[in-house]
Amino acid sequence: MNNRASSLTQRLNLVTQAPHAALDALVKSHAPFDSRESFARFVVAQYLFQAELQPLYNDPQLIALLPDLAERCRARQARQDLADLDMQAPAELPGAVQRPSMAEALGWIFVSEGSKLGAAFLIKRAAALGLSETFGARHLGEPAGGRAEGWKQFTRTLDGLILSAEEEAAAEHGAVAAFERFTVLLKQAYAMNAEQA
Ligand code: HEM
Repeated sequence: MNNRASSLTQRLNLVTQAPHAALDALVKSHAPFDSRESFARFVVAQYLFQAELQPLYNDPQLIALLPDLAERCRARQARQDLADLDMQAPAELPGAVQRPSMAEALGWIFVSEGSKLGAAFLIKRAAALGLSETFGARHLGEPAGGRAEGWKQFTRTLDGLILSAEEEAAAEHGAVAAFERFTVLLKQAYAMNAEQA
């Protein structure tokens, strides 16, 4: 029996399961909901990740495939969250994704968009710190039109693309690389001293 999942997004889900579980554990190990200080470091990582992906969210070739892509980016919200939390936006770190192929870029965007699902849980916990989608946790807020609908539309579009086997492999590679990068950014955000962060 062929045990390859049938659609691109199913395969992306499959290859990112282990990285997602590892990242989830890493996030929890830093107890981001124990204090605003800890949460602010989590936001630093989210901001850096979104800022690095801005060129992809604004790429005309990708927008041709996903017309609402630019509005999906959360760099601005994460930056505002940092300001709410009295944090300066950190400088870029070396190692951002550079000019990925179209298929690889889709893998990166898949991870960024998928993280909006987990955000539904995270924003509830942020509420205990007095934060919300209008203050400090804007980047975790529900997207216009709803989380489930936004994700459904995004995955439907991805699954409607005709990609070669090489391109599918590149998308999978991009998704795994996105988790690796977020992991680096998160570690860095928690390693920075208070003045830098
Ligand atoms: C940078 C990327 C990501 C980060 C930092 C992230 C972080 C998290 C965290 C910390 C949780 C746990 C929430 C809780 O239990 O309180 C979670 C849950 C979740 N995440 Fe992610 N996630 C990312 C990407 C993704 C992707 C790509 C998907 C889907 C394709 C996804 C889907 C979910 C779902 C459905 C949950 C809900 C609980 C579960 O089923 O485990 N996330 N995420």
